[in-house]
Amino acid sequence: MLDWSDTKPVARPLPPNIAAPAADATGLGAIERGAARVSVDEKRMINARADVNQLLPLKYKWAWEKYLAGCNNHWMPTEVSMQADIALWKSRDGLTEDERRMLKRNLGFFAASESLVANNIVLAIYRHLTNPECRQYLLRQAFEEAVHTHTFQYIVESLGLDDGELFNMYREVPSITDKAAWALKHTQSLDDPAFATGTPEADQQFLRDLVAFYVVFEGMWFYTGFAQILSLGRRNKMVGIAEQYQYILRDESLHLNFGIDVINQIKAENPHLWTPAFQDEVRAMLADAAELEAAYGRDTIPRGFLGLNAALCEQYMHFIANRRCAQLGLAPVFAEVENPFPWMSEAMDLKKEKNFFETRVIEYQNGGALAWD
Ligand SMILES: [Fe+2]
Ligand SMILES: [Fe+2]
Repeated sequence: MLDWSDTKPVARPLPPNIAAPAADATGLGAIERGAARVSVDEKRMINARADVNQLLPLKYKWAWEKYLAGCNNHWMPTEVSMQADIALWKSRDGLTEDERRMLKRNLGFFAASESLVANNIVLAIYRHLTNPECRQYLLRQAFEEAVHTHTFQYIVESLGLDDGELFNMYREVPSITDKAAWALKHTQSLDDPAFATGTPEADQQFLRDLVAFYVVFEGMWFYTGFAQILSLGRRNKMVGIAEQYQYILRDESLHLNFGIDVINQIKAENPHLWTPAFQDEVRAMLADAAELEAAYGRDTIPRGFLGLNAALCEQYMHFIANRRCAQLGLAPVFAEVENPFPWMSEAMDLKKEKNFFETRVIEYQNGGALAWD
């Protein structure tokens, strides 16, 4: 009979006066041979001492469930027909000049923003989030951001747009540059090789980056972007892009909710970080972000058109900013306003869609019959 007794090492307490070894936040450190097995209680969002390479036992089931939900939402932009969009874009009077300007600015904002968000996950967040189930979700999210960037490549190619103009807007259009630069400063401070979490100041810096990207970029700015395109789609214009944006919106609402859960879990485990002064700082970040978005709205929709104008986008931003505050347990930053785009919640419900996914699943099953020749 086999003897398995040596496969389950027990915890060996350190002799007194010997400090515990520094936590290996990356998971790339030397392997601790025969170290005690990870218990759920040792798992932490940040500054964990538990081995970050062991997914099980799960502690944060919400992170694992979001990973599964992300996998179930898989889609590719090339599965959406662009024929109607191409015909409309090329027709002389299918779109007004104002609609074309809004569309191009919107695409230009998203085209580079998807990369900024992906870079932040891979180069800043992943290193410092010391929990394997959250990292599993980050890997899924990183792929989804690649799919979103692919969407903008596919749109540029389909419509024959000037790729240099679109992908450079984040450097050439001041209202877009201002937003990107505002968020990037938080990533830059984390990307410093000398940066490490573990002090209240550094942990708050990490929280600021989570707020800047998950709450502001993905949870506020993307939402006005979705509303702009989906309002065109509601009028039967650029329906292919509108369908792609619905899939991106579904992905982004998961990204946002993951980010909110991450921040709230870090708060619960480290209440000393969530001081009244820090709460005010986060609220000020959301207020600043809403102002940057209002400036972008005025630049993108200077005259407004059916159902959409800069003032409504600003009102929507105030409504969304207050919702994000509530999700983080913060007091609202703006006076209570009505949601000017109530149809946005319907847009998130893709169950009413035509049988896009049913068709796709059959195609994937066909593709699943592998040929090795
Ligand atoms: Fe994205
Ligand atoms: Fe995202």
